[in-house]
Amino acid sequence: MTKKLASRKILVTGAASGMGRGIARLFAEEGASLALLDMNEAGVLDVAKALGAHGFRCDVTDRAGVNQIVSEAGNLLGGIDGIINAAGILDITPFVDLDPASWDRMLAVNMTGPFNIVKAALPFLQQAELATIVNIASVSALMPMPGTAGYSASKAGQVMFTKSIAMDLGPKIRANSICPGVIKTEMTRYLWENPEHTERAAERVALKRLGEVDDVARAALFFTTEDSGFTTGTELPVDGGFSWR
Ligand SMILES: NC(=O)c1ccc[n+]([C@@H]2O[C@H](COP(=O)([O-])OP(=O)(O)OC[C@H]3O[C@@H](n4cnc5c(N)ncnc54)[C@H](O)[C@@H]3O)[C@@H](O)[C@H]2O)c1
Repeated sequence: MTKKLASRKILVTGAASGMGRGIARLFAEEGASLALLDMNEAGVLDVAKALGAHGFRCDVTDRAGVNQIVSEAGNLLGGIDGIINAAGILDITPFVDLDPASWDRMLAVNMTGPFNIVKAALPFLQQAELATIVNIASVSALMPMPGTAGYSASKAGQVMFTKSIAMDLGPKIRANSICPGVIKTEMTRYLWENPEHTERAAERVALKRLGEVDDVARAALFFTTEDSGFTTGTELPVDGGFSWR
């Protein structure tokens, strides 16, 4: 059977862990050539080695560094026709106690990070016949939850950034967001390691379980292939039935 991403050249951020790593794994299985970026150098090089991909230490908030690494990655791959922005950070703190530095950092990583990556990759994306951008946002972009002023603002900004570029970059480049609910990764370890918290979180959603990395990876695959060829500027909750209530 033909692999769904044969001949595709895709850059994934946040690829050392969680969803970025899971997406990289599925995309490698589907035949993509991959450039993997993460701040965690040892982690991203390990994943890259295991998948036969190119790995780079890269802080997505460092615009000069991003420009250099994305251009190097594009030259190594012979182009870039897909982006997955999965690098992200979370600080859940009631607003009264939220450190302004944490607000700044969440906006820098979660919102400006994808801007830096897409901007740097644009010359490559524009040369491709068809290209896709998938930004991993959050249900926090769609609904308020206690202690998430900074995180929600950064993710809502990411979703609207995605919609806006979908407008500006069509028809050859499509851009969509995925809004995960609680997915079992390092970011949510504090929650799913505690059976009581897990049960409470699962009870809140229609499908009565927490999400797995593969739930999100399959959605990312959909948005990266022509299976979603008439879909752009959307945000898809992958949350077991949480955000629509
Ligand atoms: N886990 C969840 O329940 C959940 C829910 C909704 C949205 N998200 C979002 O999904 C994305 C992936 O998160 P995850 O759950 O896989 O978390 P994770 O912590 O397992 O992975 C995040 C990765 O991003 C990297 N990273 C952080 N800051 C970076 C920076 N400045 N530059 C480059 N890399 C950086 C980390 O080193 C890490 O490898 C994030 O954007 C997160 O906000 C997660």
